[in-house]
Amino acid sequence: MNKVLDTFEFVLKRVYDEFYDKLISDNYFSKFFSGRDVEDIKRRQIKNLIFSYHKFLEGNIEEIKKNYIQLAKLHDKLGLDFNSYMDALSDLELLTLKEFFSLLQTTIMQKFRYRKFFCKRRRVF
Ligand code: HEM
Repeated sequence: MNKVLDTFEFVLKRVYDEFYDKLISDNYFSKFFSGRDVEDIKRRQIKNLIFSYHKFLEGNIEEIKKNYIQLAKLHDKLGLDFNSYMDALSDLELLTLKEFFSLLQTTIMQKFRYRKFFCKRRRVF
C-alpha cells in the first residue's frame, strides 16, 4: 500500500509542478500568487488531494463534497471566478491522467501514444 501511495505522491508532485508552472507564467493567474509561498501551496494541495483519496476509499463522499465546497469558497474569497476555478480543476484532472499514462507507458502501454491524445486540447491558460 505504501508503494502505491508513494507512486501517487510522485505523480501528484509532477502534476502540480506542471500546473503551477503554467499558472505562474500566466499574466492573469500569476497575480494571485504574488507574495505567497507557491511551494507551500503546492504541498497543501497535494495533502488535500490525498486526504480526499482516503475519504473516497472510506466511502465518505459527503466529506469530499464538503471539502470541495470549502475550497471553492476559499478561491472565491481570493477573487478567482468560479469558471476559472472549474477549468483549473478539469485541467488538473487531465494533467493527472497524462502522468498516469506516462507511468503506464513504462509498462504495459508502451505503444500507446498518449501525448497525441492530450496535445490537441484547447487550454484555458
Ligand atoms: C486558477 C486556478 C487557481 C488559483 C489561481 C489558485 C490560487 C490559490 C492560492 C493563492 C492559494 C493560497 C491561499 C492562502 O494561502 O490563503 C490556494 C490554496 C489552495 N488551493 Fe488553489 N488556486 C487555483 C486552483 C485550485 C484548484 C483547481 C484546486 C483543487 C481543488 C485548488 C486547491 C487549493 C488548496 C487545497 C489550497 C490550500 C488550502 C488550505 O490549505 O487551506 N486550487 N490556491
